[in-house]
Amino acid sequence: MEIIIKPDYDAVCNEAAVMIQRAWQRKNSLILGLPTGRTPLGLYRKLISLYKKGEMDFSRITTFNIDEYLGLEETHPQSFAFYMDHHLFQHINIKKENIHHLSGRPDDIEEHCRAYEMDIRRLGGIDILVLGIGVNGHVAFNEPSSSLASRTRFEALAQESIKANAHFFKSEKEVPRFCLTMGVGTFLESKTILLLASGKDKATPVAGAIEGPVTASNPASALQLHPRSKFIVDEEAASKLLRKDFYRWKYENRDKIADLM
Ligand code: PGA
Repeated sequence: MEIIIKPDYDAVCNEAAVMIQRAWQRKNSLILGLPTGRTPLGLYRKLISLYKKGEMDFSRITTFNIDEYLGLEETHPQSFAFYMDHHLFQHINIKKENIHHLSGRPDDIEEHCRAYEMDIRRLGGIDILVLGIGVNGHVAFNEPSSSLASRTRFEALAQESIKANAHFFKSEKEVPRFCLTMGVGTFLESKTILLLASGKDKATPVAGAIEGPVTASNPASALQLHPRSKFIVDEEAASKLLRKDFYRWKYENRDKIADLM
């Protein structure tokens, strides 16, 4: 794992945007797994700005969103499909056919989830998966107790997630109780994983994910099983890490270390 501690939220978003831009420059095409929520908003603003400056082109970029509320139409302002369009897609030159969402109203849930996994595989797998982390350690809607081998599926939202997402709705009662989410096992097949976290309410789940045991009680801890997972966190989200100095030293000396390998 690479643990990158940045001074603040803006620097976290910048680091992630630069990593995505560099990967795109190397390959000229890219398959991204993308989250919603508050955390990625700054990253999306930076990607839009790179596009507007002519420093990034999305015409050969494909995206897969990592989860969706069940019961909401794509046009519902709180659906993740709407969020993605509003905060990213309508501002860049991504092709409609390259955007993949889980549906909030699938005819057949199992078949829909199976087809989503097939699409990811058919296109060659996710190059960069971007994740946030919930206050309870969830990644996408893989709530605590999610199997670390889980695939794309139906899930129930944990109470902490309902509470955390309530501010997007008129009241907590309106937050959907169920969702579709890519699974932890699906995530672990991505080539690179970037988990972004900002703020002190993420300090406990981040510390558990990096320095605690690998456990379904903190699904983000599954990233310990991935050979190219990077946590990009700000000082507040890093505040409960015990080995901060070591992580900082490794990051600051990454070029020298690479030369030795
Ligand atoms: P947030 O959500 O970015 O709104 O804090 C993170 C998550 O639930 O994964």
